[in-house]
Amino acid sequence: MDLKSEIKKRRTFAIISHPDAGKTTLTEKLLLFGGAIQTAGAVRSNKIRKTTTSDFMEIEKQRGISVSTSVMAFDYNNIRVNILDTPGHKDFAEDTFRTLTAVDSVILVIDSVKGVEEQTRKLMEVCRMRHTPVMIFINKMDREGLHPYDLLDDLEKELKIAVCPYTWPIGSGKQFKGVYNLYKKDVQIFASDKNSIPESLISTRDILDPRLRDYVGEDNIERLWEEIEFVGDMFETFNMSLYREGYLAPLFFGSALNNFGVLELLETFLEIAPCPGTIQASERPVDPAEEAMTGFVFKIHANLDPNHRDRIAFMRICSGRFERNKFYFHTRSEKKMRFSSPASFMANNKSIVEEAFPGDVVGLYDSGNFKIGDTLSEGELLHFEGVPSFSPEILREVVNLDPLKTKQLEKGVRQMTDEGVAQLFVQQPGNRKIIGTVGELQYEVIKFRLEHEYGAKCSFSHLPYVKACWITSDNKKEMDAFFSRKYSSIAFDKENNPVFFAESEWVLKTAKDNFPSLTFHNTSDFKMKINKKI
Ligand code: G4P
Repeated sequence: MDLKSEIKKRRTFAIISHPDAGKTTLTEKLLLFGGAIQTAGAVRSNKIRKTTTSDFMEIEKQRGISVSTSVMAFDYNNIRVNILDTPGHKDFAEDTFRTLTAVDSVILVIDSVKGVEEQTRKLMEVCRMRHTPVMIFINKMDREGLHPYDLLDDLEKELKIAVCPYTWPIGSGKQFKGVYNLYKKDVQIFASDKNSIPESLISTRDILDPRLRDYVGEDNIERLWEEIEFVGDMFETFNMSLYREGYLAPLFFGSALNNFGVLELLETFLEIAPCPGTIQASERPVDPAEEAMTGFVFKIHANLDPNHRDRIAFMRICSGRFERNKFYFHTRSEKKMRFSSPASFMANNKSIVEEAFPGDVVGLYDSGNFKIGDTLSEGELLHFEGVPSFSPEILREVVNLDPLKTKQLEKGVRQMTDEGVAQLFVQQPGNRKIIGTVGELQYEVIKFRLEHEYGAKCSFSHLPYVKACWITSDNKKEMDAFFSRKYSSIAFDKENNPVFFAESEWVLKTAKDNFPSLTFHNTSDFKMKINKKI
C-alpha cells in the first residue's frame, strides 16, 4: 500500500476523563469490538487483581492508579485504530498533556452523575489550545444522573465548546430505555440484562414500530419527541469542519459497562475522526505524506518488562515510512541511530514491527539517549513543538539514605527526570539535587522506582519554596548582580539554565521589580526559542 493510503486508514486518538468516569471500561470495550481482546470478563477479572490491560505498571498494581501511558492498536473495518492511553490521576496531568501532543483527536468520557469535573476542565484546556477534535461520550446512563439538558449546558459553559448531540437518551437511570440516533433516526434498546429484551424487538430499530412503543412506553416517546425538538432548536447540528477544528463536539450517550452505545460511538468515530494531518515543527509544518520519516518522542517508559532494565521511548511518526534497521538522525545530539527491534503494542503484548506510518506509535529501546520531545528525522534539523513543561510548584531536596548507592541514585534521578516524571535542578555548593514536580504523588513514585529499579534509597526534605522560574536576560551585569544577591535561591536545570526559587509570590514580584531586565519564565517553551536561534 502506498504512503497516502496508509495515512488515510489511520486514526490515532486518546480517551480522556476525570478518574472514575469510565475511561478504562470504555477502552476495554473498544478493544473488544476491535477483536484485540477476546472477552470483557478477562480484562475485568484482571482489574480485580488491581491491573488491567491498559494499566500494567508495577507501581500501579500497588496503588491502583494509572501512571503509565500505554498504546493499543487494533484494526476495525480496515482502519488501523491507535489508542493512546493516558493516566487519569491529576498528579500525572503533564504526562497526559504530552500524550495529547501525539494524537489527532480525543474521546472525552463524562460521568452522567457527576458532569464536568476538575480534570475534565484541564484536559479540555489543552485540547482547545491545540484545536484537537473532540467527541464526547456521556457514560453511566444506567445510573440516576443529571438531566441531559443540564449536562449539555454544563459542558458548553465549563468546557467552552459547542456540543451537538448525535444520540439522545430515552429516560435515564432505572428508566433508561435506550438511545435515539438523531442522524440515522433509529433506536437502540437498552436493558442491563440483554436477555430480557424480547426477541421481537431486537430486529426493529424503528421508533414508530408499535412493539417498540409498547416497550419504551408512550410517556417516554412523547418526552423524547419534545426533547428532540428542543435539542434541534438549542444545539448545533453536526458540521465536519467545526468538529475538525475543535469547535464542535459530537456527543453520545451510553453505558460502557453495559456495552451500550459503544459500537455507535466507534463507528461514528471512524467515519468522522481525522486521519494524521500536518504537524507543526519549530522550523516548518510537516506534511504526513512527505517521503522523509520524521517523528518525536512523547513518552519514555522505564522498565515496561520487569525482566529487562531497558527504557522504551514512544515515538509518534509524523511523516514518511519508518523502517526497522534504517539509520535515523537524532536532531538533539545530531547523531545517527538505528533500531533493530522497534516495538508495536497491543496492550501489554509487544511485537517487533518492520515498518510504521504516520499516526503510528513505535516503541524504541533506549539505553538513556532519549529525552521527552526528541525528534528523529532523515537528516533535517527539525524540532516538533510539544506542550511545554510547567514550572514546578513543589520542590524537595533529595536526601541519599544509602551512600554506597550514590551512583545508582544519581543515574535513577537523571533517567527519571529525562522521562518527564519530574524536573531536576542542581544547586551549588555541594551538588544538592532538588526535584520539582506539579504533584505530590511523583515523590512517592520516584522513591518507589529508585528502590525497585535502581536499588537506591532516598527521602525528600521539604524546601520553603512555592515557585521555580527559569530566568533569562540580555543584561549580563544585572544577571550577575541578581545571582550574587539571590545566591542561595538559584539552581540550574539539566541544560544548565538558571532557575530562581521563590519563597512566596511576593518575593517573586519584588525580584521582578528590582531586576527589570530579567525575564522570569513559567514554562519551558523559552528553551525552544533559544534552540531555534542556534
Ligand atoms: P477510569 O478508567 O475513568 O478511572 O474509570 P473505570 O473505567 O475504571 O470505571 C470506574 C468505575 O465506574 C468502575 O467501577 C466501573 O465498573 C464503573 N463504570 C464504568 N462504566 C460504567 C457504566 O456505564 N455504568 C456504571 N454503573 N458503572 C460504570 P468500580 O467499582 O470502581 O470498579 P470495578 O470493580 O467495577 O472494576
